[in-house]
Amino acid sequence: VSDVSDIRFEWRGDFGNDEVNELHADAFGGRVFTADEWDWRDLTSRWSLGWVTARSATGALVGFVNVVWDGLVHAWLQDTMVATTSQRVGIGHGLVVGARDGARAAGCEWLHVDFDPELAPFYLDACGFRSTAAGLIALHGNGS
Ligand SMILES: CC(C)(COP(=O)(O)OP(=O)(O)OC[C@H]1O[C@@H](n2cnc3c(N)ncnc32)[C@H](O)[C@@H]1OP(=O)(O)O)[C@@H](O)C(=O)NCCC(=O)NCCS
Repeated sequence: VSDVSDIRFEWRGDFGNDEVNELHADAFGGRVFTADEWDWRDLTSRWSLGWVTARSATGALVGFVNVVWDGLVHAWLQDTMVATTSQRVGIGHGLVVGARDGARAAGCEWLHVDFDPELAPFYLDACGFRSTAAGLIALHGNGS
């Protein structure tokens, strides 16, 4: 994909577990999980406020982001991902805009994300997040 205007973004759009697991392995690296190992449809339908799908003109899933929430006020982006062959054309930005609009329409007051420092230009400059303090504990290993 070379033009974001060819992309259809959809809040809570239909998706299959296999295509999300393939997209996740492509975007983040690592192996392709099976639907039994990582059942995105079940997880998102039960626990997420929503999610955004991005599909090319051929219908291929080229982007996805999960939006989890506290049930009322706060929503969080999780697993923002764009296919490696379709990055840097604005799909990631479109996913975040769709998530922001979906969370706002649901009545949430805040949208959060955390990320590695090298993605600050994406989240802070391109997508409009402001920088804030956050914390993290590794739950396996020595806790740091
Ligand atoms: C991060 C990610 C979602 C961005 O998606 P994308 O579709 O490539 O992003 P966009 O095209 O909307 O980028 C918009 C702008 O953000 C900035 N940007 C995007 N990716 C960037 C990166 N990897 N490093 C620095 N700046 C970046 C650029 O300014 C870009 O504009 P430009 O291409 O004109 O320079 C995508 O690279 C990805 O899936 N990465 C692997 C998975 C991942 O790490 N996800 C984030 C988890 S927190």
